Amino acid sequence: MTLSIVILAAGKGTRMNSQLPKVLQPLAGKPILQYVLDTTHSLHPNNISIVAGYKSEILRELIKDKNISWRIQDTQLGTGHAVIQAIPDLNSDKTLILYGDVPLIKKADLQSLIRKSDTGLAVMTYIKNDANGYGRILREDNNIQGIIEDKDCSEEQKKIKEINTGILAADTKYLKQWLNRLTNENAQKEYYLTDIVKFAVEDNITVLSHEVKEEISMLGVNSKSELAYIERGLQLNKAEELMEKGVTVLDPNRIDIRGHLKCGQDVTIDIGCIFEGNVNLGNNVHVKPYSFIKNSDIDENSTIEAFSHIDSSKVGSSCRVGPYARLRPGTVLESEVHIGNYVEIKNSLVDQGTKINHLSYIGDSEIGKNVNIGAGTITCNYDGVDKHKTIIEDDVFVGSNTQIVAPLKVGKGATIGAGSTITKDVPKNDLTLSRAKQKTISGWAKPVKK
Ligand code: UD1
Ligand code: CA
Repeated sequence: MTLSIVILAAGKGTRMNSQLPKVLQPLAGKPILQYVLDTTHSLHPNNISIVAGYKSEILRELIKDKNISWRIQDTQLGTGHAVIQAIPDLNSDKTLILYGDVPLIKKADLQSLIRKSDTGLAVMTYIKNDANGYGRILREDNNIQGIIEDKDCSEEQKKIKEINTGILAADTKYLKQWLNRLTNENAQKEYYLTDIVKFAVEDNITVLSHEVKEEISMLGVNSKSELAYIERGLQLNKAEELMEKGVTVLDPNRIDIRGHLKCGQDVTIDIGCIFEGNVNLGNNVHVKPYSFIKNSDIDENSTIEAFSHIDSSKVGSSCRVGPYARLRPGTVLESEVHIGNYVEIKNSLVDQGTKINHLSYIGDSEIGKNVNIGAGTITCNYDGVDKHKTIIEDDVFVGSNTQIVAPLKVGKGATIGAGSTITKDVPKNDLTLSRAKQKTISGWAKPVKK
């Protein structure tokens, strides 16, 4: 069996009130349409068409997929009219029609629908208590006779709870014939794709249905409110998946995963954490409240304390990071490193057992093992034009409030006195400091108000 897939995405999405086309709005960090495309690819179709209209240039620019045939529907004259734009692409045995704004449709449901369309036509349905706005499935003796749009429903038909999700699969050769017969004689003066059901019945074809069980998988996104509703549902599903694998999610309603989060055993994730891109948490990792972690690996037995921000970094095993720490891209912490509050690290390697516990900036640096960086230490890596490197060897002790003006190297075992501005290489083992001598003016009288 060969398969063509048509994705309808010409709708304006007026209710989004956005410059960005509705199908490009991000859901869990990924454009809505990309979900549909990912599912589409998983069915290995022979060809994929997207019917675009509103801001189709932006769509084509942002969805870079060579295997797509783009069809433009200049005016939105209905779902049937939209599919007609893709007729030149329809040359497979079967055609599956998807909506670009229904992101969470499941592969298994689509496979079942496609199988059922062996009769010639199968529609995807859902039982909805509040069916308002949806097309209703008309049946006689349980056999599908047609689909009637909400706006064309009689009072009696409005009571029907079996709705049309809009997704359908058909024998391509029949579909083309039926599309030719569409008219716009209805309440909305639109070419309704749903009218093909009536034509199939006229042609003595049994129309089957596949019923979706999970509401979220058939919902379309038309407004920011619906987007938020689906986002929450999707996030809850992701949290459930993690919990099934043994992760302790302190509140499954307060976690956001915008990408892939892989967790080892006995991981705990406190409330309000956001994970973006690819994040790996090793065994026994604990992420405390309101941390943001993007494209990073945290190795086993490490703890990320509250309000930490970690981007494109690697945290080794048995580390403690935060609270209020910021690891910027290119940070690598080896094992047993402590990074404390208000410490920012960028593009630096920090070796085993080193502690940078308070209020420091470390950039473009290589810091050895068992180094102690005192509070308020700054590597001055930028001269206004270029970035320079700082090397601090093993067992160094850097006193508080030290500025290290790169490029330079601090030798193994050296001690730097507090409050120093270091501008030259520091020799190993000895004490180095640069500091104005302390003096006391005796007999000093405090000024008094006249
Ligand atoms: C359609 C179905 C309705 C179903 C509902 C489910 C028809 C006539 N009605 O309703 O039975 O219950 O979906 O949500 O098919 N689109 C185009 N071009 C157009 C019109 C629509 O590309 O001219 C696209 C939209 O971008 C969207 C999809 O088709 O992705 C559905 O359009 P929408 O207006 O939301 O659905 P209805 O036509 O109201
Ligand atoms: Ca419509």
